[in-house]
Amino acid sequence: MSAPAMLVHLLLEQLARHPLPRIPETAAVMEDPLQVAAFADSGKDQGILNYIYLFHSLMSAALIAPGDVVLDLACGPANQLLRHARLHPDAHFIGMDASARMLELAEQNLREAGVHNVSLQQGDMTRLDGMAAAGTDVVTCTMSLHHLADSTALQHCTQQIARILRPQGGVYLADFGRLKRRATQRFFAYDRMDLQSPAFTADFLNSLQAAFSLTELQQAAAVLASAPACYYTALAPFMVVLRSTPRRAIDPGLQQRAQAAYQQLIPGEQRDLCNLLRWFRPGGLRLPDGLMLTGG
Ligand SMILES: C[S@@+](CC[C@H](N)C(=O)[O-])C[C@H]1O[C@@H](n2cnc3c(N)ncnc32)[C@H](O)[C@@H]1O
Repeated sequence: MSAPAMLVHLLLEQLARHPLPRIPETAAVMEDPLQVAAFADSGKDQGILNYIYLFHSLMSAALIAPGDVVLDLACGPANQLLRHARLHPDAHFIGMDASARMLELAEQNLREAGVHNVSLQQGDMTRLDGMAAAGTDVVTCTMSLHHLADSTALQHCTQQIARILRPQGGVYLADFGRLKRRATQRFFAYDRMDLQSPAFTADFLNSLQAAFSLTELQQAAAVLASAPACYYTALAPFMVVLRSTPRRAIDPGLQQRAQAAYQQLIPGEQRDLCNLLRWFRPGGLRLPDGLMLTGG
């Protein structure tokens, strides 16, 4: 990412007064083969989102305890789920998505990776049919809330999360936030267009335009008993994270798996991950206490 250009855009965000109007995704449930394939590839090894998935798994590492049942909402092709499942081999994960095509890819992805602590089910994140009340320990969701039609659907989603979580349950909800300038949205969508497919670039821009505002996300999260803190990237909410307080300590096994995953990134991805950590730091989001990444 071009740091000076990004800084200019972030500073110009300060001068703009209001978030842009939201433009909802036209195809909320992702079934288009080209779009699905482009998105799935972006999360594979050295794909453009690979380091972001590790970032979210590390940031949520202290929420997931051994024996937990974890629901990953709108799991898509399971790229995030794979990261979570490898980091927590002693927890059970359920991946839910409304798209049959995404779930087919997810199943293939998990089979090829030889991961056995994940099951998949088709479902709508505003209903969570088939999920028992107070039966889930943790709910995670990455880059998907903006697919919901409007803030009412967003509230239905968080009400359902509140319904299925156990009393001491935790959440980690991460998404893009609504920016104030079309030019900033275009900057982020196009900045790495030489490294991503045209379908992914178009999808990225749609996602930024469909992102909820900080206020909408915070209002929807207010129904959650665990009262997650809301964090966002400094100067503008390009990315937003709602995270509950830790539910476990980082033990040596978890530290070792996290460090190994970090070491497997190529140097450019390690740099991107460290930059993202720095970008979130002024807003207060940090790696869980006791988790350290070294080398690289
Ligand atoms: C951009 S993808 C993100 C996938 C995954 N969470 C990730 O981070 O890689 C958004 C996903 O949300 C799914 N989706 C959209 N609306 C949904 C809904 N109402 N219920 C469940 N899944 C939905 C889409 O099918 C798609 O797989």
